[in-house]
Amino acid sequence: MKLLLVGATGLVGSHVLRVALMDRRVDRLIAPVRRALPEHPRLFAPVVDFDSLPEDPAWWQADAVICALGTTMRTAGSKQAFRRVDHGYPLAVAKLARQHGTRTFVLNSAIGANPTSHIFYNRVKGEVEQELTGMGFRSLTFARPGLIGGKRDEFRPAERIAAEALR
Ligand SMILES: NC(=O)c1ccc[n+]([C@@H]2O[C@H](COP(=O)([O-])OP(=O)(O)OC[C@H]3O[C@@H](n4cnc5c(N)ncnc54)[C@H](OP(=O)(O)O)[C@@H]3O)[C@@H](O)[C@H]2O)c1
Repeated sequence: MKLLLVGATGLVGSHVLRVALMDRRVDRLIAPVRRALPEHPRLFAPVVDFDSLPEDPAWWQADAVICALGTTMRTAGSKQAFRRVDHGYPLAVAKLARQHGTRTFVLNSAIGANPTSHIFYNRVKGEVEQELTGMGFRSLTFARPGLIGGKRDEFRPAERIAAEALR
């Protein structure tokens, strides 16, 4: 199986990457990233600019895409910048993959995703789900986790407080 993973350097994506590389059913893992990943014989991880993704069919023709891209409002700096990463990039990847015949797409979305929500984050997540639904994938999966615990280099005070409160 050829798997395309975006967000492979993140908390969720790095777990997906590790599990996928241990899984012998995955012959080839394509993981476009903006910062390089350690090499692995079955991994092709080109460094790309997500604002202008290359259109090389050899990348986008996959058996399945897993999308774990995302940022936070704090890191992005504005609603517009957040939306570009959490909405624009997943849809750009989905469009290229679909154009090149990929029929299965999995999005790591979020609990509360709802295109009519008054909460901006939930609305953006809901809008991505809604637009993906109209793209003609044969199999489309939305994982909607709540807060995910785990070690990360970046300091996220709000998430840390929420994780403590929810423990
Ligand atoms: N963590 C949670 O508690 C949680 C809960 C519910 C839903 N989610 C959702 O699940 C998804 C993954 O979450 P996560 O915690 O794994 O996120 P994360 O650790 O912040 O990783 C996000 C991934 O997106 C990439 N990315 C961010 N900004 C980018 C940009 N401008 N250009 C290119 N790549 C960019 C990151 O690349 P770099 O490594 O280069 O920054 C990284 O690979 C997100 O959509 C998030 O909203 C997360």
